Amino acid sequence: MSEDERSRRGGDGLTDGGAPSDHVELAADGGVETDDVDDVVLDPWGAASVSDYRKLFEEFGIEEFDDVLADVPNPHYLMRRGVIFGQREYRPVMDALREGEEAAVLSGFMPTGDPHIGHKLVFDEIIWHQEQGADAFGLIADLEAHAARDLSWDEIDEHARDYLLSLLALGFDPDEGELYRQSTNRAVQDLAFELGIEANFSELGSIYGFDGETDVSHMQSVVTQMADILYPQLDGPKPTVIPVGPDQDPHVRLARDLASRMRYFGVTEAYASFEADDAELVVLSQAYDAREEYAEDPDQPRCTEAAEWLRNEGGDRLDASETEGALERAADSLENAGMEPLRPRTRIVNRRGDDEAFEALIDAVDGEKRVFEEHIDAFDLNLETAEELAREVEVDQGGYGFLAPSSIYHRFMTGLTGGKMSSSIPASHISLLDDPEDGYDKVKAATTGGRETAELQRELGGEADECPVYELYAYLLAGDDDEFATRVYEECVGGERLCGGCKEQAAELMKEFLAEHQEKRAEVEELLDAADIELESPRRG
Ligand code: TRP
Ligand code: SF4
Repeated sequence: MSEDERSRRGGDGLTDGGAPSDHVELAADGGVETDDVDDVVLDPWGAASVSDYRKLFEEFGIEEFDDVLADVPNPHYLMRRGVIFGQREYRPVMDALREGEEAAVLSGFMPTGDPHIGHKLVFDEIIWHQEQGADAFGLIADLEAHAARDLSWDEIDEHARDYLLSLLALGFDPDEGELYRQSTNRAVQDLAFELGIEANFSELGSIYGFDGETDVSHMQSVVTQMADILYPQLDGPKPTVIPVGPDQDPHVRLARDLASRMRYFGVTEAYASFEADDAELVVLSQAYDAREEYAEDPDQPRCTEAAEWLRNEGGDRLDASETEGALERAADSLENAGMEPLRPRTRIVNRRGDDEAFEALIDAVDGEKRVFEEHIDAFDLNLETAEELAREVEVDQGGYGFLAPSSIYHRFMTGLTGGKMSSSIPASHISLLDDPEDGYDKVKAATTGGRETAELQRELGGEADECPVYELYAYLLAGDDDEFATRVYEECVGGERLCGGCKEQAAELMKEFLAEHQEKRAEVEELLDAADIELESPRRG
């Protein structure tokens, strides 16, 4: 790795001090930079800062956590307070937790420095899911730290122990859950190898900005992370949530893609023998629904009849602007199909299954079916049942049957000194290992959202939304006590609370939290030594 490249890396779950936050693309190392501060880049190894969370919804397709919040059983305070702001397909996970069905949670930590209050968010998310009944996994991304951050194995061992102690001290149950490090998990490495067959260099290049200078091991750490994310499903498909900061979203998207590429069978709707994309399917379903209007025999509408209808009255009725050419394409396909009847069916396409797996699938499909070389049309199976069946057959036949992993995203904390919280600026963040007195001092020295004078503060109120100290209350110090967090907020914006006293209270709470956390860390030493995880790496380099 070149010096230049190395210097651009660094940072960790917080942000890399000094690195530019305003790249223009989501490419990672070597991503193009711009002066437009409105642009958001999601860079797993770069500057983790987000100037505008809305862009993550609009540009990257992350969904709002608010969309699912009402249905989360017993939501964590980080969910209730909007700290966890985004998600991808979280619903299956929370449905499983509510129904007492199997689900999993997994996240990983690069042991590059001390665990800090940013990591605590992720520890808490893992632990909460474990308490709700999920299989919980916490992993040490030591291969990634070694390859992408150039840490020695000795440094890695030291930091790894610190992360694990904090995770246990906060309540992770190592008997119920699993802790591992990438370097000693053979199953993860084997899975990484298989997943690597489905991803090629140009794809990694366009996602992460890799180029001809990128180390091979750095690339390997990407497929290793893909394997981490799918690891909970090695003993059977299950909804799995990956709690991370939004900088990790490129990894989540790739893992979701790879999960689907590993599947033996794909399930889609169809209306006739030809293939149709999603937009065409919408048109076809409308044509099918209107069959009474045009078919000589509505029990057997013909493809040509539907084509003609679409090109005339049907086309006028459907909103062609929404279908972007799909109407034309569907009409063409229908016309080519001629006298074939238009008839809804569920199609299961063989993508990766061998002959034996395909045979097993054919046997498993009940009811009327038509078997083609690479797909089966089933007339008595709905989409959902077919999905389940296809997954079952795949798993029976030795496939993985992966469900696409889900994710939730938390906001990055603001630095105590204003700007980004950065691991390379000690005063900007609080390490879980900081002396409680130092923690106290850092809070006392923090920037606030207060006004210039006490008088103005009483008159206008403070700006809690811009205040790193308020964030400490909301993200950590108020714990589960919503009433307390709300009171701080309202007293602040109402001008009743002045920054001096507010910081004093926060500093005291921080001191108490750190003292108590560190006491618990000492208590769980034994638990860690008894846990099934190697604490010293025999590796060299
Ligand atoms: N890349 C993550 C980081 O930089 C660490 C990580 C490795 C991880 N494997 C993972 C995170 C799996 C979530 C899930 O911190
Ligand atoms: Fe921040 Fe507290 Fe001051 Fe409000 S009163 S601006 S929350 S320090």
